[in-house]
Amino acid sequence: METKVITGDIEKIKADAVIINCFDGGESLSDAAAVIDKALDGAITQLISLGEIKGKQGEITFIHSLGKLPSAQVVVLGLGKRSELDKDRIRSSVAAALRQLRQKGAKEIGTIALGMGINGISAEDSAQAIAEGSLLGLYSFRKHITKKPDYPDINQLTLVEPDAGHLTALTDGCEKGKIIAEAANLTRDMVNESSNYLTPADMAKVAKELAESNGLKINIFDREQMRELGMGALLGVSQGSDQPPKFIVLRYKGNDDTERLDVALVGKGITFDSGGISLKPADGMGEMKGDMAGGATVMAVIKAVSRLRLKTNIIAVIPATENMPGGHSFKPGDILNAMNGKTIEIITTDAEGRLILADALAYTKTFDVGCIIDIATLTGACHVALGDVCTGVFGNNQELINKVIAAGRETGELMWQMPMFDQYKELNKSDVADIKNSGGRWGGAITAAKFLEEFVGGTPWVHLDIAGTSDTEKEQGYVVKGGTGVPVRTLIALIAGMAK
Ligand code: BES
Ligand code: MN
Ligand code: ZN
Repeated sequence: METKVITGDIEKIKADAVIINCFDGGESLSDAAAVIDKALDGAITQLISLGEIKGKQGEITFIHSLGKLPSAQVVVLGLGKRSELDKDRIRSSVAAALRQLRQKGAKEIGTIALGMGINGISAEDSAQAIAEGSLLGLYSFRKHITKKPDYPDINQLTLVEPDAGHLTALTDGCEKGKIIAEAANLTRDMVNESSNYLTPADMAKVAKELAESNGLKINIFDREQMRELGMGALLGVSQGSDQPPKFIVLRYKGNDDTERLDVALVGKGITFDSGGISLKPADGMGEMKGDMAGGATVMAVIKAVSRLRLKTNIIAVIPATENMPGGHSFKPGDILNAMNGKTIEIITTDAEGRLILADALAYTKTFDVGCIIDIATLTGACHVALGDVCTGVFGNNQELINKVIAAGRETGELMWQMPMFDQYKELNKSDVADIKNSGGRWGGAITAAKFLEEFVGGTPWVHLDIAGTSDTEKEQGYVVKGGTGVPVRTLIALIAGMAK
């Protein structure tokens, strides 16, 4: 879909539909809505007095213009109470409206700078939210479906604004929103892709193409190089798979004043998690094709940061491997040696994420780095604790934790902090090694985080457990079934804020 911004009047646009908005609570129509209403001989005001249009959040009303306007249809979007309007409501409302319009066969849509000037929403914010909402909401993954869709794609969204003074800000916002939504959609594509089409080598290929087209530095380490680096935990996990593991490092340098990295992003890249010798139950095992969501997230984030040309230096590190049972597999009771010299007793081969992250976190310590953020579909326990509503946030630095949670709020990707008391650390104590890879069932998301903490030293660090939030069964607003792309937009917002 192409998005563009033009100076003009919405009532003069020729499209399949134009989208305008109204608010809950008997408010007078906006200028744009009033002009459209007049052209429609008062249809909107009549529907309001009949109580059919209330302006509630999520309400979508279709009115055929029957030749009274150049556009065939008018969509009146309810945006809820004006005082409660924020960017996330704009994203959600636009997404829902566009999905319905797509089903009706609409291809070209016009809209206005929804929400601009309300509750501190700038022109740029409005355009960004519209672009994000539309590209996220219209996303679909049809790669392996040979049948044509029942309806065509929407191919054009035009944002129409009468005041030429807003053109630059709106265009910038639109471009930004596009880059950010495309990043989230890249992550969704990878999460939705099946594991036979997205092996560790395939992930490395995606990373390579991304590096080439965005001027990023890249290293891809194979087994031999992992051995030289001493990554015994990652190697242990990969032992059982016929797919060779890849350790992927992407670097973006947008600040020439320093060599120091502002952020090291680390993403879990298990392209399929069978559980290994500690085999998972068959039911729902296919969902474990998405166990590389963290890795896909950090790849998309570094791509967007580069496209946005942010003044910052970052790296994205992705330990990529399958976790498979077989004659070569690592086993419960085994001892693995991590890159930082720590020994790990294997309680269960299904707690593999923390093992590959241990080496990846230790690896980031070879750089001069301001902070480390890891993203992982790490524990079923986090899904149980927070559902699919919030990402679990853990860390050793409250200032950084606060920044991440605030960025999540901005982008509509909800986050909730979990405790990190040292009592939980006790549960990871081993009788035969420095640490064990499972602290048991209770508090499982926290003991996993306490395990990771052992590999970050004193560096400010945040761990995001996205086991519950990386994919979803329901369609809601700009979220569609399958991979969600969470927390790509949060991390972009966070890094953009730090780069300011
Ligand atoms: N990849 C899983 C966690 C997961 C579960 C992600 C459900 C998404 C949805 C992880 O590797 C895992 O198997 N964790 C175990 C840890 C346990 C054995 C200590 C878990 O959560 O059951
Ligand atoms: Mn597992
Ligand atoms: Zn896993």
